[in-house]
Amino acid sequence: MAIKKIDIKPASGKLGILTPGMGAVATTFIAGVLAARKELALPIGSLTQMGTIRLGKRTEPRNPRIKDFVPLAGLDNLVFGGWDVYADNVYEAALQAKVIDRGMVEALKPELEQIKPMKAVFDKAYVRNLDGTHIKSGETKMELAEQLMEDIRQFKSTNNCDRLVMVWCASTEAYTEVSAVHESLDAFEEGLRNNDPRIAPSMIYAYAALKMGVPFANGAPNLTCDIPAMVELAHLMRVPVGGKDFKTGQTLMKTIVAPGLHARALGVQGWFSSNILGNRDGAVLDAPENFKTKEVSKGNVLDGIFDADLQPELYGDIYHKIRINYYPPHGDNKESWDNIDIFGWMGYKMQVKINFLCRDSILAAPIVLDLALFLDFAQRAGMRGIQEWLSFYFKAPQTAPGLPAQHDIFKQLSKLENTLRYLMGEDLITHLGMDYYEEFEKEYAALLQADA
Ligand SMILES: NC(=O)c1ccc[n+]([C@@H]2O[C@H](COP(=O)([O-])OP(=O)(O)OC[C@H]3O[C@@H](n4cnc5c(N)ncnc54)[C@H](O)[C@@H]3O)[C@@H](O)[C@H]2O)c1
Repeated sequence: MAIKKIDIKPASGKLGILTPGMGAVATTFIAGVLAARKELALPIGSLTQMGTIRLGKRTEPRNPRIKDFVPLAGLDNLVFGGWDVYADNVYEAALQAKVIDRGMVEALKPELEQIKPMKAVFDKAYVRNLDGTHIKSGETKMELAEQLMEDIRQFKSTNNCDRLVMVWCASTEAYTEVSAVHESLDAFEEGLRNNDPRIAPSMIYAYAALKMGVPFANGAPNLTCDIPAMVELAHLMRVPVGGKDFKTGQTLMKTIVAPGLHARALGVQGWFSSNILGNRDGAVLDAPENFKTKEVSKGNVLDGIFDADLQPELYGDIYHKIRINYYPPHGDNKESWDNIDIFGWMGYKMQVKINFLCRDSILAAPIVLDLALFLDFAQRAGMRGIQEWLSFYFKAPQTAPGLPAQHDIFKQLSKLENTLRYLMGEDLITHLGMDYYEEFEKEYAALLQADA
């Protein structure tokens, strides 16, 4: 049964992608899109660009690329901008991040050096291991939010953009919990006027974006838009939001492997995850209050897949430990080790060892692109508030209050694909597949009858 197609506005004109934070992830993202435009590299890892989606029955040859199925902004129509506490342009910042080969950065230099960060809203209380000076000043946090809104307005008109999206690619902030000032929009705005210390810079960016009707995604584990005040504002302004913390590296592997162990009803006794990384992100996470934010975001991933209440014999006593160590010689090339103690038939013990030599920003960059394109699409489709169908991209997916997050990457993908099918008026795919055999039964019965 086909579903009514939702009315989706076309992706006409330019889409501006604004990133608070123009460090390793943001510069790798921008350089990759520019390289794809010039056909110097492929946008590998981006589901919107490289992924396909099955439509209709398995016997139908309908497997278009997602970008050909859904009306997304094209790579040629993207414009980039953002903010950073350092004044380096994107060419300089990409060289400093050392993710992309120098030759490639040089090939993109004319475009990259045109992109210069705007002055940041920054508070050292939230990121003590950075000391940039390219920062805004203002009497109150509300004044800073208004300055950001003015930046957004200026960027949109200077670059002749039709629409904008914002993706947080700045450093992980110190750990905070939801408190009274975050509970409602009124309390939050009062807090902005009173310089409430519990309002983090990332929240000021999110507030400015939503007030301007700009969809917002949070790539770091800070609360940012995952507070009631921001969800209220997103609904009020009819803007989609999503978060938090890009799912890359070790957590990506975890949410690929864990569903497999769970699917075969294998038990898990312990999961020890250790990793070393040496980029600026690693330096920020070297501060315990910033590491705590990351630890909480990474830590809940297994709980959502191995349910101790439902299967206590298998998952009632998992010891899950995560370590992140700052190790400058490795730069952005993060190395992770996982030791997984599992048990099978009659309780016999086994071990799985994973040693992932990844490149953090190479895995994160396509996520920035997909989130920007999908959030813009969601807004044109009239969706607002929390976009749980984008959980696929996050370590700690934001969900409706009280709704447990889905961490299994395969279930997240099904949800994303079915959301696209639903919005485009295609049949949802349940993988039941009995109809193939019903047709076969009919043919078979007719054959038997003809034979008799
Ligand atoms: N690389 C990954 O795989 C990955 C995965 C998940 C999450 N993340 C998160 O993405 C974020 C970016 O990672 P990265 O490797 O690019 O880090 P990075 O340190 O290279 O870049 C972050 C940039 O943000 C800037 N910044 C800090 N506070 C700011 C503020 N208030 N306003 C504007 N700019 C600010 C810093 O100066 C820096 O240039 C981090 O929070 C990281 O934890 C990264």
